Amino acid sequence: MDRHIQVFLNKVSFISITIATLILLFLILDTPSTCLDPTTTPYHAHPHPHSKRAHQKFFPASTCDYTHRTYTSLDKKNQKLWNSKTWVHSVSSYKSLFSSSLQGPVRTHLFNHSRALVVSAGPGHGVLALKEMGVGDVTGVEVVDSPPLVSRADPHNLPFFDDVFDFGFSGYLDRALFPARYVEEMERTVRSGGVCMVAVEECGDEEVREIVKLFRKSVFLDAKNVSLAGEKKTRIVVRVGI
Ligand SMILES: *[C@@H]1O[C@H](CO)[C@@H](O)[C@H](O)[C@H]1NC(C)=O
Ligand SMILES: *[C@@H]1O[C@H](CO)[C@@H](O)[C@H](O)[C@H]1NC(C)=O
Repeated sequence: MDRHIQVFLNKVSFISITIATLILLFLILDTPSTCLDPTTTPYHAHPHPHSKRAHQKFFPASTCDYTHRTYTSLDKKNQKLWNSKTWVHSVSSYKSLFSSSLQGPVRTHLFNHSRALVVSAGPGHGVLALKEMGVGDVTGVEVVDSPPLVSRADPHNLPFFDDVFDFGFSGYLDRALFPARYVEEMERTVRSGGVCMVAVEECGDEEVREIVKLFRKSVFLDAKNVSLAGEKKTRIVVRVGI
């Protein structure tokens, strides 16, 4: 190839690379205008500051405007959920389950200063019930989080240290993928002397014994048939520590 063609091509490549780099830098440094918070955008930047258009220009929040939008809609979503009849009914059902247990097997194990854990907390009925009963420190976990009541965690691998809770509850042990592992994690995180309470689909004594057997580090305290959120359940209470 001719030398001057080679030099020319080199020049072209060099210029292209420079332009590409500049564009890239520009894109990185420049905040898209739709990401700017409309409340902080100076109005004199618009030709017609008080016209509807000037406001509309920034109105449709782009995907980068996530913080503000998520919180508003989450708040609204929660308000709607927490005011629904089924929610209110469900929470009061969990409350009566807990308070009936408070008069029974959980009497000396659950107080206002207790640290409670709800595993498979769903959208947080049980968490809210315990909070409304005055328990100060309630943690709810579920595979899918529901802020602010429930955080995301795998029940088979709880992200907590050993012995940090006084009370552990699950309404869905019978739906666990690995029940033995699930129970092991509850027993690990609930301190010795604390209690674990599970509500499973209503069952007879034989099945209760099978479930209690999963709690290898606990002592059986009580089993009772209850109604929870419209479902017939058997709630089982064990005390951790042999
Ligand atoms: C928390 O304290 C209140 C007021 O003393 C009491 O009514 C409630 O039963 C307590 N809750 C628990 C779970 O001990
Ligand atoms: C719960 O109900 C079942 C029947 O569905 C019965 O076999 C069992 O004995 C009851 N358990 C308790 C603790 O009352």
